Amino acid sequence: MILGGSASQKLAAKIAKELKVPLIPIETRRFPDGERYIRIKGEIDDEVIVVQSTGYPQDENLIELFLILKNLKDMGIKKIKVVIPYFGYGRQERRFKSGEAISAIIIADLLEFAGADEVFCINLHEENITEFFQIPVHNLSAMLPIADHIKENIENPVIIAPDKGALGFAKEIADILQCEYDYLEKIRISPEIVETKPKNLDVKGKDAVIIDDIISTGGTIVNAVRILKEHGAAKVIVSCVHPVLVEDALLKIFAAGVDDIIATDTLLSDVSMISVASLVADAIKKTK
Ligand code: R5P
Repeated sequence: MILGGSASQKLAAKIAKELKVPLIPIETRRFPDGERYIRIKGEIDDEVIVVQSTGYPQDENLIELFLILKNLKDMGIKKIKVVIPYFGYGRQERRFKSGEAISAIIIADLLEFAGADEVFCINLHEENITEFFQIPVHNLSAMLPIADHIKENIENPVIIAPDKGALGFAKEIADILQCEYDYLEKIRISPEIVETKPKNLDVKGKDAVIIDDIISTGGTIVNAVRILKEHGAAKVIVSCVHPVLVEDALLKIFAAGVDDIIATDTLLSDVSMISVASLVADAIKKTK
């Protein structure tokens, strides 16, 4: 049985359809003072798959997830698999300055405390987050569904990573599509400001597809789009796994001259057109 948290209702329904299992009705709302209320309705099997992204508002979505998990355990559910399509707090997965909380470790501990028995995530910001759990964790890659979408819509693309950290994604897609790939060099000045170094790129007259795991403020992508345009790319298409899209990020990217923006449905947005439902369902089918 599948239980969808309020951040991932549509994706939960799609995964349930793929797995041919029922959706558990759940009531989730806020008390007048803002606190979260959840009630799980109806009969439940011994094993439940909970789907909940923990993007904005992160704290609220996390609290809802913890309430669901602990409540299921209290109701006697034997096995809870948790699908967290976007893992919030994943970007603070180490102590950059002394005294900082390593948020990703704390979230991992809390998920286990709340009752998670197995976790499925998609393109965690850093692979080392899997090591913070004592329970099995599957870090799935959405590059195949993204590559399939590119294949259907763009002829002879060149895949571009906007920084070295995304080079693995560009290679993964390029290997599937048997096309060229390259990367740009980025320096992050602050959470809002990034600088991207000019570089010789062979994109003249080609359709360039940028791939990144997250688009947050859009700063990384805006710089990459400008450089690709300056190098004479015929079209620039932006793709990402997690469309975090803070404030006017989409507008900024379109204003930079991008032709299209495509993302997966790990988070809801205007550009979440590639579903990860089959990816998640297939991974769940492989586990006991
Ligand atoms: C960085 O490590 C990530 O892969 C993304 O490039 C980054 O999170 C994007 O952030 P922004 O959209 O704010 O530039």
